[in-house]
Amino acid sequence: MTTEPPKSPKGKSITKTSSSDADTRRELLPWVEKYRPSTLNEVTGQDNIISTVRKFITAGRLPHMLFYGPPGTGKTTTILAIARELYGEKSFRHMVLELNASDDRGIDVVRNQIKTFASTRQMFANSKHNFKLVILDEADAMTNIAQNALRRVIEKYTNNTRFCIIANYAHKINPALLSRCTRFRFSPMSPEAIRTRLDVVIAAENVKIDADAVDALVTLAKGDMRKVLNVLQPCHLATTGETGVAATVTVAMVYECVGCPVPADVRRLMTTIIEDDWTTAVRTVAKIKADRGLALADILEALATEFEGYELKPEARIALLEGLSEIEYRLSGGGNEAIQTSGAIGVVKRALDIQGGIVQE
Ligand SMILES: Nc1ncnc2c1ncn2[C@@H]1O[C@H](COP(=O)(O)OP(=O)(O)OP(=O)(O)O)[C@@H](O)[C@H]1O
Ligand SMILES: [Mg+2]
Repeated sequence: MTTEPPKSPKGKSITKTSSSDADTRRELLPWVEKYRPSTLNEVTGQDNIISTVRKFITAGRLPHMLFYGPPGTGKTTTILAIARELYGEKSFRHMVLELNASDDRGIDVVRNQIKTFASTRQMFANSKHNFKLVILDEADAMTNIAQNALRRVIEKYTNNTRFCIIANYAHKINPALLSRCTRFRFSPMSPEAIRTRLDVVIAAENVKIDADAVDALVTLAKGDMRKVLNVLQPCHLATTGETGVAATVTVAMVYECVGCPVPADVRRLMTTIIEDDWTTAVRTVAKIKADRGLALADILEALATEFEGYELKPEARIALLEGLSEIEYRLSGGGNEAIQTSGAIGVVKRALDIQGGIVQE
């Protein structure tokens, strides 16, 4: 006699996912997800925030919270780890309502989804944490009317619900809403914190990488851990041959993947713009751009960073930065790349005229 697999209420066969299925799924995840810390202990470089949150959890008195700060610093990761710690994997689904930018962010969500979730009584609460959690990720995308409506909902359901609002910029959140939350500012991750986390991934994935490539990754990421992993994974894949054996990730690969000119190219760009006549400089810059597949936006950023190391008169620096910002603005509005490239060279040359000679620090 054969036994049929059990049926769900809708008549579909229920197949239990084996742990090896779960392992395979995990293997296929992008590294940013695969290495998203699942516990608060694993969240790196935000020690003050984690220790404060821990105290709140231990005391069973979680306030409404606002997490804000730049991308890839651990805001979403931290609240998910908190939720897991509070409820465990089993009750997570019943106790947590997670809304992010992919959901509708209008007044209807507040009126319907959030209100319904917050007002229904919880059956799965444990004795200590008898409140539910509403996570409003990327809340800067919520309409003003929705934010206004939320003020009332937060107050009304404080008895059984806590809210965690997550945003990149606190100033985009309604001040009345802000005053109802305890604020936590996530700073860009420090180079040391990035290195610590990077080492974990490098070891787990057996990545071979030059020391200066690690340095470049840490510098170019500017505190964004997501960016680090999103650059490391394709670099590692690119070095993996058909045999599955990976070669070493080099500094040039990191720069290429980030889309930044390598230091040697930046030096060539600087030399031609500073020393050559305008026509030669335009041709040389165009050639470097074509050879390296660079966009003017990347070059503008590299020039601005490079000139930070030069001693310039205030008038010259102002002319330089104003000019480069203007070009960046025009580019973002659809300005012609070739014309704006000539413009950028003109901006640097004019700043150097004002300076009347250049001294590197
Ligand atoms: N503090 C951290 N410790 C360890 N890994 C981190 C940390 N911050 C970010 N990461 C890594 O970067 C990925 C993205 O992090 P997360 O989603 O928490 O960023 P975020 O701060 O919510 O950014 P955004 O503002 O863009 O939503 C995570 O999956 C994880 O791999
Ligand atoms: Mg996030």
